[in-house]
Amino acid sequence: MNRNPALSDRRRKAAKAAPRPFVKVLAQAIEAHQADDLDTAERLYGQVLDMRMAQPDALHFLGVLSHQRGRSDEAVELIRAALQITPRHPDAHNNLGNIHKECGRLAEAEACYRRALECDPGHYNALGNLAVVLEARERLDDAFEAHTRLLQQAPNHARGHYMLGLFLRNHAQHIEHLEQSAECFRQAIRLDGRNVRALECLGVALYTLGRHDESAAVYREWLQREPDNPVPRHMLASCGAAAAPPRAADDYVRDVFDGFADSFDEQLLNNLGYRAPEVLIGALLEKLPAAAASLDVLDAGCGTGLCAPLIRSQARRLVGVDLSGGMVDKARARGGYDSLEVAELTDWLQRHPDQFDVVLSADTLVYFGELAPVLGAAHGALRPGGWVGFTLEAIEGDEDRAELTSSGRYRHSHRYVERVLHEAGFVDTGIAADSLRKEGGKPVTSWVVCARRSAGQPA
Ligand SMILES: C[S@@+](CC[C@H](N)C(=O)[O-])C[C@H]1O[C@@H](n2cnc3c(N)ncnc32)[C@H](O)[C@@H]1O
Repeated sequence: MNRNPALSDRRRKAAKAAPRPFVKVLAQAIEAHQADDLDTAERLYGQVLDMRMAQPDALHFLGVLSHQRGRSDEAVELIRAALQITPRHPDAHNNLGNIHKECGRLAEAEACYRRALECDPGHYNALGNLAVVLEARERLDDAFEAHTRLLQQAPNHARGHYMLGLFLRNHAQHIEHLEQSAECFRQAIRLDGRNVRALECLGVALYTLGRHDESAAVYREWLQREPDNPVPRHMLASCGAAAAPPRAADDYVRDVFDGFADSFDEQLLNNLGYRAPEVLIGALLEKLPAAAASLDVLDAGCGTGLCAPLIRSQARRLVGVDLSGGMVDKARARGGYDSLEVAELTDWLQRHPDQFDVVLSADTLVYFGELAPVLGAAHGALRPGGWVGFTLEAIEGDEDRAELTSSGRYRHSHRYVERVLHEAGFVDTGIAADSLRKEGGKPVTSWVVCARRSAGQPA
């Protein structure tokens, strides 16, 4: 989403030539919007529209703001109204495309990006977005063509290199694709040293290519430059060059997911075939009473709220908890929760004994190595007879162990999970293997786990 509303040069010159009262208010609104002061910006855009009923910039940017606040239908109406007045405004087409994309209307998004490019063939954001939406529509050849066209037109477009690196990594068929993706991440970093996500991706790609020392060197140099940064600290452990912590540190989780919140749904759902919420909730629904709106449910590590629409009808009360404020903002905009809290999970569970009939956790306990503290706390937060359901990445084989992997997430063996659930007091344990996402173009084997706190059992 274009979060930096800016008047085009043409419109700015026109505004200067003939100052009108609304121009000053519009400039103040844009300033507040850029500073993320959405209340002030919304009020001021409203004032502009009171002065000039169909002022296209105010309609356009108020549309962007409405989407940021979760009012996406209204946002679409506003930007369409702006485009009726200024039909050849590439930014407005691009932003309308972003709203459709984020709402899952991929065909409409594609059409908007193409219109933006008709208005301005050099609109690199629209071309990059087109590539992303084509990838999400599984038109991989077209997506690759759009990614490469962008880099032919703008060889120094740092984000373009980063996005092509992600594309090659997500759909790697051969080792060469992973090598090319590493090169793209390197180039993205050369062009924009602030893109720390590219640095992390480079480290992971090098590790996957078996270049473990180079991978560790990337993280080590990064940590030397930024000794307080939790990401290289965690990633150094993830490639075996430092001791693994019992779970991912709070500051690491916050940093990664605050930075990931805007693109999480797009990356996971569209590009990585993510299906943990639907598979987990499908498994839980087989255990739960059929009566609608009868259960108190905790979505533990709720992220952007993908589980909410799948469990809402069963829930009398649906609570979401997550460490990342950015992810919780997205969940709030999606809606469906009775309450949402930004908090560390184990600690939060310990402070809410005997309150839930269901504690569900999709793709969150992969950030925990030792599961005993969090599962003990989940047992205590459940009422007798209540169900816990969660997903994990799997270590196959007979061992009893957990490990931090080069992706920065943990994996657990079947025996480990079974033992820890038993020690926490759970009964009726079911652990099923499934594939819930892809990584490096390949399915990741996962566990889908359900277990019950026995009826009448003390916490
Ligand atoms: C991969 S996302 C999954 C989100 C959501 N459950 C879904 O399926 O879309 C993992 C989430 O776990 C959260 N998380 C990781 N460790 C946590 C902790 N210790 N306490 C609370 N949330 C945590 C992250 O902030 C992130 O939003």
